[in-house]
Formats: sequence, C-alpha cells, structure tokens
Amino acid sequence: MKIKQPLFLIAGISTLVAINVGAGAQTPTPAPAASPILAIKPLPAPPPPPTFAPANLTPLGVRSLAANCAACHGTNGNSVGGAIAGLAGMNKEYLAGQMKLFKEGKREATLMHQIAKGYSDAEVAAMADFFAAQKK
Ligand code: HEC
Repeated sequence: MKIKQPLFLIAGISTLVAINVGAGAQTPTPAPAASPILAIKPLPAPPPPPTFAPANLTPLGVRSLAANCAACHGTNGNSVGGAIAGLAGMNKEYLAGQMKLFKEGKREATLMHQIAKGYSDAEVAAMADFFAAQKK
C-alpha cells in the first residue's frame, strides 16, 4: 500500500492539471479588433446597362462584321469542307431572310438562332450585300 500512494498523488495532480488546462481553453478570448481587411464594404451601385456602339456600316466596318462569320462559314464566306454552308455569292435576300427566320426562332438551328440575334436588320442587310458580292 505504501507504494501505491505516490501513484495516486501523481494521478490526482495530473487530473488537476488537465482540468485547469481544459478550463483555460474555455475562458472566452477577447474578440479581435476590427481589421480594415475584414471589414465588408457595401457594394457600389451596379453600372448602367451597356449601350451598344452605333453600327459601323462603312465598307471596313461591314468587313469586320462579316469576319465574325468566318470561323464557321470560311474567309469571305468561302466555307471549307462543306459541313457548313458557304455564304460567298449567296443571294442577299435569301441570306437576310434566313437571318430573320433564325432571329425570330422560325428556322430551327443549333447556333444561328443565337448568332442572328446579335445583329440589327441594317447590319444583316449590309453583310448580305457583302457576301453576295464575294466570289465563290
Ligand atoms: C459558330 C459557327 C457559326 C458562326 C460564327 C456563324 N454561323 Fe451561320 N451557320 C452556322 C451553322 C451551324 C448553320 C446551320 C444552322 C444551324 O444549325 O445553326 C449556319 C447557317 C447559316 C445560314 C443559312 C445557310 C443556308 O444555306 O440556309 C446563314 C445565312 C448564316 N448561317 C449566316 C451567318 C452569318 C451572316 C454569320 C455572321 C454574322 C454567321 N452565319 C456566323 C454556324 C455559324
């Protein structure tokens, strides 16, 4: 029995230490001072909706518009591979008419119903003139 007593003493001390350490962890720590980095500033007012630049229907402007079609319909409307229709030499009334149908959702399409919406009637007419004048 004489040997066991110091063991109890050690066990008792370590329990007290453990309780004190635990209690220490529970004491509330003061809230950190407000940091300017963490402060959430109110969002600025949203910008006004975009206004589009007036159509550039100069010869160079029309060429730039028509260049937007080149990725799929080929340079100056000469499509390569035949998977997508070429626009070079296409009848301008037909081209403009199809763009209108795409825009209004009256001709089913995978892409053109969205692309057509990006152009005004004047821009489409100018592009139709441009493509009609291109050699096949
Ligand atoms: C990302 C590829 C892509 C681009 C860019 C694109 N087209 Fe198309 N175009 C198509 C596809 C694909 C079709 C077939 C219809 C469909 O599925 O959308 C088509 C069909 C057409 C047709 C109908 C052809 C026919 O024989 O009836 C016309 C006209 C046309 N595009 C005009 C244009 C014009 C003008 C532009 C540029 C402003 C343009 N496309 C840009 C992919 C494209």
